[in-house]
Amino acid sequence: MDTVTTVEAVRTRAQQWRAAGLRIAFVPTMGNLHAGHTSLLAAARYRGDRVIASIFVNPLQFGPSEDYTAYPRTLLEDQQLLQEARCDLLFAPGVTDMYPHGGDQRTLVVVRGLSDILCGRFRPGHFDGVATVVAKLFGIVAPDVAVFGEKDYQQLLVVRHMTLDLALPVDIVGAPTVRAPDGLALSSRNRYLSAEERTRAAVIHQSLSQAVAALYDGDTDHAALERAGSLMLERAGMIVDYFAIRNAADLTEPNAACSDLVVLTAVRLGRARLIDNLRTHRP
Ligand code: PAJ
Repeated sequence: MDTVTTVEAVRTRAQQWRAAGLRIAFVPTMGNLHAGHTSLLAAARYRGDRVIASIFVNPLQFGPSEDYTAYPRTLLEDQQLLQEARCDLLFAPGVTDMYPHGGDQRTLVVVRGLSDILCGRFRPGHFDGVATVVAKLFGIVAPDVAVFGEKDYQQLLVVRHMTLDLALPVDIVGAPTVRAPDGLALSSRNRYLSAEERTRAAVIHQSLSQAVAALYDGDTDHAALERAGSLMLERAGMIVDYFAIRNAADLTEPNAACSDLVVLTAVRLGRARLIDNLRTHRP
C-alpha cells in the first residue's frame, strides 16, 4: 500500500484506476484505527475494485475546548493495519494541503437543521466541519462509493443529506457498529478512559438495549424511556448530554405510529465524550 500526502498524487492514482474501468471505494477516517475502521475497509473491499482510505485529523470539526491536540495520531500502526486490511492507497494530507486558504477564508458546507440537533447542540460547528471535509475529500478522491460507520449515526445522515443536496455522484454506505465483548462501541476516544471508567462504560450499551427492548415490546411513552435511560447512565457516574428516541430516517421526534426508530446517546465519562446508538423496528 502506498501513502500519498498531496491532492495531486491521490487524484492522479484515482484517475488511472478510473480510466482502467475500476470502481473506487473510499473510507475517510481520522486515524488511530481499530476493528471498527477495518470493518469499513472490508465493506469497501466488497464494493470496490480499489480501496482508498484517508487519515486526516480535521481541525474544522473540533471545538475550541475539544481534544484536537490530544487526539491520538498513530500513523505507523495505522499503515500496518491498512496494509493488512488490503487497502490500496492511503491519503494522509497535512492541514495546509486540505485548507490552503486557512482561517476565515474557507468555503464551508453546512447541512442546516440536521447539524443543529443532538450532538450539534453540544458541539456547535462540528457537523459543518465534517460536511466540509467530506465534501472536499469526495472532490479529491471522486469515489464511486464511500463507507461510513453507523456508530456515528448523525454524521452518517449529515453526509447522506449533503451528498444528495449537492448531487455528488457517490453511493453512501452505512456499516454496522463494531463493539467490544461487553457492548461498548469501539472508539479512538475509549483510550481516554481509566480502567475503572472503561468497566462502567458498558452501561452505555445496556441503557440503549433497555430502551430498544421496551420499544420493541410496544412501549410508546418515549419521554419516560428517555428519562429511564438517562438515569441509568447518571447512576453509573456519567454526565448525559442527551438520551433520545428519534426517527431513524431523519432524526425527527417520532410519534407512537412511527416504526423505524433509533435510540441515541452522548455522555461524558472522565475525559471522554462517548456516543452510541441502536436502531429498532417497532412491530
Ligand atoms: P473517525 O472517528 O476516525 O471514524 C471514521 C469512520 O469509522 C466513521 O465513518 C465512523 O463512523 C467509523 N467508526 C468509528 N468507530 C466505529 C465502530 N466502532 N464501528 C463501526 N464504524 C466505526 O468519523 C470520523 O472519523 C470523521 O468525522 C470523518 C468522517 C473522517 C471526517 O473527518
